[in-house]
Amino acid sequence: MNSTTSPELTQFAEDVLAGLSASPKHLSSRYFYDDEGSRLFMEIMKLPEYYPTRAELRIFEDQKDGILKAFSDGAEGIDLIELGAGDGAKTAVLIEHILAKGLDFTYSPIDISQEANAALEARFREKFPSLEIRPHTGDYFQVLDSLRSQNGRRKVLMFLGSNIGNFLREKAVDFFRSLRQVMNPNDRLFIGFDMQKDPRVIVAAYDDPQGVTAAFNLNLLTRINRELGGDFDLSKFSHYAQYRPVECAARSFLISREKQTVHIKALSRSFEFDQWEAIFMEISQKYTHAMLEELSSDSGFAIEDEFLNETDFYIDSLWRPV
Ligand code: AVI
Repeated sequence: MNSTTSPELTQFAEDVLAGLSASPKHLSSRYFYDDEGSRLFMEIMKLPEYYPTRAELRIFEDQKDGILKAFSDGAEGIDLIELGAGDGAKTAVLIEHILAKGLDFTYSPIDISQEANAALEARFREKFPSLEIRPHTGDYFQVLDSLRSQNGRRKVLMFLGSNIGNFLREKAVDFFRSLRQVMNPNDRLFIGFDMQKDPRVIVAAYDDPQGVTAAFNLNLLTRINRELGGDFDLSKFSHYAQYRPVECAARSFLISREKQTVHIKALSRSFEFDQWEAIFMEISQKYTHAMLEELSSDSGFAIEDEFLNETDFYIDSLWRPV
C-alpha cells in the first residue's frame, strides 16, 4: 500500500485511485464483472459481431474427439480443472463427450466467486447426474497448489474464452509461469486464444451498434459510483474501441466528452478530466502463431497440439511443461 492511501481502502478503491491518478488514466477490466457486468458480458457473447465465444464452441463441438484424445493420451483417467468457468457452455460439450466415452474423470471448476461456482455446480449436477464435480472457491494458484499432490493422475488445466487476452503480455507470462510452478510434468494446460484477423472484424466485435459493449464498459463507472461513492455522470463519457494491427491489440477507452471534475467519496479525492481525455479500460490481445510459440516458450511450456476453428479465427492450444 502506498503512503497516500488509508489502511481501510479495499483493493478496488486502491486500484481506482492509482488508475485515475495516473497519466494516462486507466481502470482495470478485472472489475467489470459485478452482477450487471456479468449479465452484460453474457449479452455480448450472444451478439452477432462478437465471434470468439461461438468460434470456441464450434471447436469443442467439431473436435471434441481429438481434444479428448490429446487430453487423455491413452490414460485411464484425468482430472479436468477449469480456471474461471463462467456459464460452462463450452465445457459442457466436452463433459458430455467424456461421459459418453466412459473415461474416468473429475471436473473441478475454480473460481474466486462462491456464487459463480454454486450456480455452475447446480447446473452441471442437474445436466450430468453422474459427473464427479468438485468446485473450489479461491485464488487459482492456492487451489492448484493444494491439488498438486492429490493423485498421480494427469491434470488438464483449462483457461478458455481468450481470457488471457485481457492480460498485458508481461502479466500473461507471469500468470503462465505461476501455473507452471503448480503443475506436474505430465499435466497439461489448454488455453483459448483469439487470433489476428481482418481488423474490421475485430473492431466490430468491440464496438457493436447495439451499444452493449459500451454499456459493459460504462458499467464500471456505475460500480465506482455505487461502491465508492463516485459522482460519474455516464452521459458525459463515451465508449471508444480501436484495434492496432501491428501489435494485434484491441483496446477500449472511455472518453470524457467535456472538461469535468469527478469526486469519489471513498477516496476523498476529485479527479479532473480534460475534454476528450481517455481512460484506458481494457486490452483484448489477439495472437499470431509466432506470438504463441514465443509466449509458450517464454512461460516454460511447449505447444503439444492445436485446435483451430474452420475460419482460423480462434485457437485452443494444448501446452506441456518443459
Ligand atoms: C472476457 N474477455 C475475453 C472479453 C474480451 O473479448 O476481451 C471481454 C470483452 N470485452 C469487450 N467485449 C468482451
